[in-house]
Amino acid sequence: MSVKEFDVVVIGAGPGGYVAAIRSAQMGKKTAIIEREFMGGVCLNVGCVPSKALIKAASYLYKTQNEVNQMGFTVKGVDVDFKKLQSWKQSVCDRMSNGVTGLLNNNKVEILKGNADFKNANELIVKMNDGSSISVKAKNFIVANGSRPIEIPGFKFDEEFIMSSTGGLAQDKQLKKLVVIGGGYIGLEIGMFMAKLGTEVTVVEAGTSLLSGVVDPEVVQVLQRKLKKMNINILMGAKAKACNKKSGGVEVVVEIDGKEQKLEADKVLVTVGRKPNSDQMNFKAAGVQIDAKGFIVVNKQMRTSVPHIFAIGDVAGQPMLAHKASHEGVIAAEVIGGKNRAYDAKTVPAVIFTDPEIASAGMTEAECKAKGFNDLKIGKFPFAANAKAVSLLETDGFVKIIADAKTDVILGVHIVGPEASTMISEAVLAIEMGARLEDLALSIHPHPTLGETMMEAAETALGHPIHIFLRK
Ligand code: FAD
Ligand code: NAI
Repeated sequence: MSVKEFDVVVIGAGPGGYVAAIRSAQMGKKTAIIEREFMGGVCLNVGCVPSKALIKAASYLYKTQNEVNQMGFTVKGVDVDFKKLQSWKQSVCDRMSNGVTGLLNNNKVEILKGNADFKNANELIVKMNDGSSISVKAKNFIVANGSRPIEIPGFKFDEEFIMSSTGGLAQDKQLKKLVVIGGGYIGLEIGMFMAKLGTEVTVVEAGTSLLSGVVDPEVVQVLQRKLKKMNINILMGAKAKACNKKSGGVEVVVEIDGKEQKLEADKVLVTVGRKPNSDQMNFKAAGVQIDAKGFIVVNKQMRTSVPHIFAIGDVAGQPMLAHKASHEGVIAAEVIGGKNRAYDAKTVPAVIFTDPEIASAGMTEAECKAKGFNDLKIGKFPFAANAKAVSLLETDGFVKIIADAKTDVILGVHIVGPEASTMISEAVLAIEMGARLEDLALSIHPHPTLGETMMEAAETALGHPIHIFLRK
C-alpha cells in the first residue's frame, strides 16, 4: 500500500473542511483534503446552496402569480419546467463546487478522492474512489466529516416516496401533495418553496411551536400568518407514526392528542434534524472522545481529546450551520499554524430562509432573562413603515432589538422580513463590538433601504423613533 505524508490532512470538503484546508495551505503547511463524494460538502451540493437557489426561483413565481398585479402587470399562463429548474439549480451548485476545487488547486492543497478511516491516531486508511487503498499520515488531522439526516422508525428513506432533504431538493416533477414531517429549518424552507411551486403542503410538527427554541416567539407569529395565507396546513403536537406506500403515493399516519389521522400524499419529506457522522471513520482507533449526543468533544481551539487531531463543523457540535463550520475551520488551521487563536465569537447568527426570512443574532428576551438581564430596553420597528419594503411589496415583519437597560449594550437582534439574512450581519458586528443602541441609532444609514429599519429599531428602543409614533 502506498503511503503519503503531510503536515495537515483534512477529512471532508464541506464548508468546514475546504476552508480549513485553504487556510492551512496559506499558512505554509503541506496540506491534503480527503473527500468521498462532493467538493463543497452537504452545503454546496445538497444543502444551503441548492435550497436557496430553489427558494429564490419559487419566490419569483409566487410574486409573479400573486403580487405583481398590484403594480399594473397582468400575467397570464406562467408555466414551470421542473426539469429545467432542476438543471439550473444543479448549474449553480456545480459552479460553486468547481470553484472550491479551483481554490484548493490554486492553494496547492492535494485532493484525495476517497473514504478515510482512522487506523490509529497518526494514520488514515483511504479507500480511493478508483478502488485502490492508500495510507495517509500527518502531523495534524482536521476532522470535518459532517452530519446526515435523522431517520425515524417506519420512514426509511428511499428518496422516491420517503425523502430526506436531498430527495426534496431533487424533484423534477410537479408534486400535487406533500407531507413534511418536522416544522424546523428544513421542513419550513422546503415546504414553503414547494407550496409556491403549486404543491399542497401539510407540515406535521411534534412540538408545540414551529422553529421551537430557535427563534423569538413573536417572529414565529409573523411566519405563521404567511403560512396560513399560503394555505400550508400545519398540524402541531402531531407525531408521525407510520408510512404506508399506496399505489403511486403514501399514506402517512400521525397521532394528535392520542387520535390517529391519515394523510395521503404523493410523497413525504422527513426533516426531523441531523446527526453527526461520529459513528463513522473509526474514531475509537484514534482515541477521539465523543459525547453523549454523538458530537466529537473539542476545546476552544477545536482540539479533540487527542491533541494533534482537531474537529470542526457539524460533527463538532451545535449549531449545525455552514458559517460556524467555516469559522471553526479557520481557527483549527491557525492554531496548527502556530497562531494564538481560540473560538470566542459572541454570537453565531442564524438565518431561516422562509418567507418572510428570519434572522437572529444574540439572545432572545427569554435568554436575556435567564442570564440575569432583567431590565431590558426593547425596540421594534415594522417593515410596513419602511419605504423600500413597501415598494418591494414586502411589508410583513419587523426588526426587534434587545438591549440591557442599564448600559444600552445590544444583547440580541431578531428580524423577520425582507432580506433579514443580509441585514443580520450589521447586528452581528454590533454585538461583537459591544455596541450600544446609540451606536446604531447615530450611524447614518442610506435611504431608501431596508437597513434603515435597524437604525429605527435602535431609536425605538431609545424611545424616539422618527417614522413610527410611540404612544406613551
Ligand atoms: P458537511 O458539509 O456535511 O461536509 C462533510 C463532507 O465530508 C461531505 O462532503 C462528506 O462527503 C465528507 N466525508 C464524510 N465522511 C468522510 C470520510 N470518511 N472520508 C472522506 N470524506 C468524508 N447551513 C447554513 O448555514 N445555511 C443554510 O442556508 C443551510 N441550509 C441547509 C439546507 C439543507 C437542506 C441542509 C441539509 C443543511 C443546510 N445547512 C445550512 C447546514 C449546512 O449544510 C451544514 O451545517 C454544513 O454543511 C456543515 O459543514 P461541514 O463542513 O461540517 O460538513
Ligand atoms: P430542526 O432541528 O431544525 O427541526 C426538526 C423539527 O422536527 C423540530 O421542530 C422537531 O420538534 C420536529 N420533530 C422531531 N421528531 C418529530 C416527529 N417524529 N414527528 C414530527 N415532528 C418531529 O431539523 P431540520 O429541519 O432537519 O434541520 C437540521 C439542521 O440543519 C438545522 O438544525 C440547521 O442546523 C441546519 N439547517 C440550516 C438551515 C439554515 O441555516 N437556513 C437550513 C436548513 C438546515
